[in-house]
Amino acid sequence: MSREVRLAAVPEGLPRPEHFEVVTTPVPTPAAGEVLVRNRFFQVSARLRTLLSGAAEGTPLPSVRPGESPPSATVGEVVTAPQGSGLRPGDLVFHWLGWREHAVLPAEACVPLGDALPDPVAHLGSGWTAYTALTRYGGLVPGDTVLVTAGAGGVGSLAGQIARELGAGRVIGTTGSPEKADRMIADLGYDIVLVGGAPLTEEVDVVVDNVGGDHLRAAVAHARPGARIVLVGTLAAQLAPHLSGAVAPVELDAFQLVLKGITLRGFSDPGDPSAKAEWTERFGTWLRDGAITFPHVRVPGIDHAAEALHDVIGGKHVGTVVVELQEDGMRIGDAAAAAGTTPRALRFYEQRGLLPPPRRTRTGQRLYGEQEVARVRVIRELLAHGLTVEDVAACADRLHLLEDDVLPRYGEGVCTRTSGVVDRRIAALDAEIGRLTALRDRLDAVRGSRARAAEPL
Ligand SMILES: NC(=O)c1ccc[n+]([C@@H]2O[C@H](COP(=O)([O-])OP(=O)(O)OC[C@H]3O[C@@H](n4cnc5c(N)ncnc54)[C@H](OP(=O)(O)O)[C@@H]3O)[C@@H](O)[C@H]2O)c1
Repeated sequence: MSREVRLAAVPEGLPRPEHFEVVTTPVPTPAAGEVLVRNRFFQVSARLRTLLSGAAEGTPLPSVRPGESPPSATVGEVVTAPQGSGLRPGDLVFHWLGWREHAVLPAEACVPLGDALPDPVAHLGSGWTAYTALTRYGGLVPGDTVLVTAGAGGVGSLAGQIARELGAGRVIGTTGSPEKADRMIADLGYDIVLVGGAPLTEEVDVVVDNVGGDHLRAAVAHARPGARIVLVGTLAAQLAPHLSGAVAPVELDAFQLVLKGITLRGFSDPGDPSAKAEWTERFGTWLRDGAITFPHVRVPGIDHAAEALHDVIGGKHVGTVVVELQEDGMRIGDAAAAAGTTPRALRFYEQRGLLPPPRRTRTGQRLYGEQEVARVRVIRELLAHGLTVEDVAACADRLHLLEDDVLPRYGEGVCTRTSGVVDRRIAALDAEIGRLTALRDRLDAVRGSRARAAEPL
C-alpha cells in the first residue's frame, strides 16, 4: 500500500493541517511508458499557499483542488521503468509528484540525479533560483552590495552564500527572527541582517527580493544608480491571510526608478535554462569544498507534511524544508554501522546461515530491522568469544534468545558492554553434556540387559 497527502478542503486564509488528509491507496500501477517511483524526499515551501488557494493562474505549477496532492520538488527511487527509457530500478530521480509515497509518471518527467551533488536531498534546494537571479538577471559583479529579502528561507539561505562566493562586497539580509539573524551571520554569508522590518540604511546594487511589499519599496528607495532588482517571490502577499496569494500589489516610487536607472526584473523558473547545468556543477563543487552548505530541515514521515507546511509559513525553520519518507528498515550500510561491522560481514553471515535472508526493497536492496541488528551483535560477540562460524550456525535458530539482554539496541552505538553470553553458553553445554551422559547411561544399561538376556543359561 501507499500513502499520500491530499487537500481535504480549500483553505480560507492560510492553510492549516486540518485542510489536509492522509489517504492510503494501493501502490499505483504504471501504464506503458510510465515509471513507478518510490519517493524519498519532497520539498515543503510557502509557495504552495498560492496553489492551495485555487487562485493560481499561469503559474509553473497548477492549482490544487480538493482530493488532489500538492505538487512539489521531489526525489525518489525508480522501482520499475519501461524498456529503453534509460532508467533502471534503484536510480534516483527528480520529479514534481510529491506529497505521496509512490508516484507514477512518464519517463520523460523523471530527471536522473547522477552524482553531481554529494547528497540527493540537495537537489531539492532552491539554489538554482537564487543563482539565476544573481548571475543572469542581477548581473552581480565583485564588490557589489547585495540585499536578499527573506534571507533565511529556502531561496534566501542559499542566495546569501552564493552572493558571497560570487564576490559580493557586502551581503544584507532580512528575517523575522533574531535567532535566525544570528545564524544567517554565522553560517549563511550575511554581513548584516535586518530583523522584523528594521529599516534599510545602506545603498544596494543588487536585490534578490523574495518578499515584495515594504521590502521592495525599501530596496527601491536605497538602490544605487544602475541597481538591478530581481523579483523572485512575493511572500508578504503570498502569506497574507486576507489575500489569495496570487496578487501582490505594491506602490513603488517610479521617480526613483527613472532617476537612478534601476532595473526591475521578475522571473519564474525555469528562467534562463542555461543556468541549471552551470548551477548544479558549481553547487556540487562548492558543497564538496565546504565553501557553502545546504541549509535544510528534514521532517520525518508523510504524516507530518501538513504540519511542516504550517511551520514553514509560520517562519519556524531556516533553509529548505523537506519531508523525508522513511523506509521500513535500514539499508545494509546503516545496519552494518549500527551493529558495529561492515556490509561485507553481513552478507557473509547471511551466506553461512548465521542470519536469515533479509527482506528486500522493491528494487532488491537488502532491508534490516532492529531485530536483525541485535542478531548481528550477538553473532559478533559469540565469534569474539571463540565460537566458530559453524558453532554459531548450529544454534542460529536459538540466537534470538540471546538478543534481548546481550547488547544495547541499535542507535546506542557500537557494542561495548560485556554480557553473560559465554556463561550461559557454558551452562547450556553443561546441560547438554548432562543430557547426553544420562542418555549414554541409559543406552549402556539397555545394552547390558540385552547382553545378559542373550547369554546362555
Ligand atoms: N521565481 C521563481 O522561480 C521562484 C522559485 C522558488 C521560489 N519562489 C518564490 O520565492 C519566495 C521564497 O521562496 P522560499 O522557498 O524561499 O520560501 P520559504 O522558505 O518557504 O518561505 C518561508 C519563510 O518566509 C518568511 N515569511 C513568512 N511570512 C512572511 C511575511 N509575511 N513577509 C516576509 N517573509 C515572510 C519566513 O522567514 P523569516 O522568519 O526569516 O521572515 C519563512 O521562514 C516565495 O514567494 C516563492 O514563491 C520563486
